[in-house]
Amino acid sequence: MKNKVIIKDASEIVTCSGFEAKKGKEMQDIAVIYDGAIIIEDGIIKDIGISKEILKDINEDEYEIISAKGRAVLPGFVDSHTHFVFGGYRAEEFSWRLKGDSYMSIMERGGGIINSVESTRKATEEELYTLGQERLDSMIKFGITTVEGKSGYGLDIDTELKQLKVMERLNKDHAVDVVSTFLGAHATPKEYKGRTDDYVKFIINEVLPKVKDKAKFCDVFCEKNVFSIEQSREILKSAKSLGMKIKLHADEIVQLGGAELAGELGATSADHLLQASDKGIKDMAKAGTVATLLPCTAFSLKESFARGREMIDNGCAVALATDLNPGSCFTNSIPLMFALACLQMNLSIEESITALTINGAAALDRADEIGSLDVGKKADIIMLKYPSYKFIPYNIGMNTVDMVIKDGRVVI
Ligand code: NIG
Ligand code: FE
Repeated sequence: MKNKVIIKDASEIVTCSGFEAKKGKEMQDIAVIYDGAIIIEDGIIKDIGISKEILKDINEDEYEIISAKGRAVLPGFVDSHTHFVFGGYRAEEFSWRLKGDSYMSIMERGGGIINSVESTRKATEEELYTLGQERLDSMIKFGITTVEGKSGYGLDIDTELKQLKVMERLNKDHAVDVVSTFLGAHATPKEYKGRTDDYVKFIINEVLPKVKDKAKFCDVFCEKNVFSIEQSREILKSAKSLGMKIKLHADEIVQLGGAELAGELGATSADHLLQASDKGIKDMAKAGTVATLLPCTAFSLKESFARGREMIDNGCAVALATDLNPGSCFTNSIPLMFALACLQMNLSIEESITALTINGAAALDRADEIGSLDVGKKADIIMLKYPSYKFIPYNIGMNTVDMVIKDGRVVI
């Protein structure tokens, strides 16, 4: 039997309508329908509009009816940058940072990412799978229906493949859709200490050919004392030539020119960007690279926030993501992210919503399928406890999501 659902009488349906990234001023346009309804069949949106108009010729008895009276309805959130599959924790490092240690100094002493590499190498596939499931269970409560996850806590072939395998299994088994990214160039592993160029060669010659069909994206942590612009360019170009899409951690701590590199290579997204230069911002806008901002990380590291307002004013497509990871930012809190985007980066509520829906989808190269409520797209939908989307950041740090519908089925 067909799975047929109608959501009706919504005080607002925030459609975020569109099939590609919204740039600059377009980010303000979230295309709200008042007194709206959505008709869903087999997990796909069949019609959307004003309740009275689109339901007039429909026999509602054939459908499961969900009343959205007094509620706002939005597309499921797309969290396009996380590192959610990892073993172990780094609470100790967090306490050191509070005492004045910096993220990079901990990394240079052999802690940081390498610390998580040790625990992730030790963890079994089943252990990582169970942890991954728990983390996805938590994300979906905040309305996240698609998440990107990165490898990069293996830095050897077996563990990188183990992380990617876990994400592939979770994508099949869990309601949340998981998009995988290979981040072998996350740090130089102990075995290659002092020989980063050799590690880059190893990634290009031995790892990329083995992971190219197991991850949609290749990402690099392009940062001073991690991977240089030249090393990042080499890896990303090789990944591209193997048919992968590319992303990079760019200009997070030091202004290296990562945003410019993203523009030059036509990266799908450049992420973090706390220190992106004026030219980098223009290059991303010109290349159509999504500028993915991770304000919870800036907050957690006590760094200054990325210049999100200026990026939008310069015509960039900005996305927002949580960056959930065991080190720099251990949170999947969408409410915290909204608070920081609106109150610290001066994005409007509408721009923030665009950033976490259609632009998040564009950052995963999936804006044709998810990220908005349009006919033909997946019925990944959230309903708030409140009548308007404006309650999202107004409820500071509190979850306003009351119902989550994934592929047309109520899951929360
Ligand atoms: O996006 N900056 C590099 N990578 C992650 C942090 C990873 C970690 O510290 O484990 C990030 O912040
Ligand atoms: Fe990251």
